[in-house]
Amino acid sequence: MQKKRIEKIYEEYLSVKENNFRKWSKDFLASLFLEKNVFFISLNDPTEGYLIARKILDEYEVLSLAADINKRRRGIGTMLLEKLINMAKKEKIQRILLEVSENNIAAICMYEKAGFKKISKRKNYYNEGKDSKDAYVMEKNLIKCV
Ligand SMILES: CC(C)(COP(=O)(O)OP(=O)(O)OC[C@H]1O[C@@H](n2cnc3c(N)ncnc32)[C@H](O)[C@@H]1OP(=O)(O)O)[C@@H](O)C(=O)NCCC(=O)NCCS
Repeated sequence: MQKKRIEKIYEEYLSVKENNFRKWSKDFLASLFLEKNVFFISLNDPTEGYLIARKILDEYEVLSLAADINKRRRGIGTMLLEKLINMAKKEKIQRILLEVSENNIAAICMYEKAGFKKISKRKNYYNEGKDSKDAYVMEKNLIKCV
């Protein structure tokens, strides 16, 4: 991805306000987007939410997703997931995977409403000093049965 496009993505990413949520550094974000298969989806102008995902063969992996703290519970997270799911269907993606902290009830409910299912648990996935948290691995299966 071109440097200019990465700069624009970083601006949009930073403009989405998140409480107590550590933002990735510009260098880290740039290193992600230098991988060809990482992409950015945003919603509205000015940006009210974003989703960062990676394509690996016939799977998508959600790396980050957030709605602006002042605009939550208005369907932004769900609309970002809908955009991703529509893209996935067009690209014949088989499944979408993600990790979510076991205590992130808002996100777990949003993913479940969008048809994601918990498929496993990763122990101590989020290491917050002494207070480490397990993560659920969640999946949305897009394979159509005939
Ligand atoms: C998780 C997050 C993206 C949800 O975004 P949002 O735009 O507020 O979500 P939506 O309005 O689309 O909500 C969809 C459903 O999720 C659930 N949900 C969302 N916020 C919730 C909350 N605070 N408590 C309980 N359920 C919640 C509800 O079931 C909701 O449907 P409803 O409003 O019809 O009841 C947002 O809270 C956020 O940015 N959190 C911080 C970043 C984060 O945790 N990202 C996920 C990392 S895996």
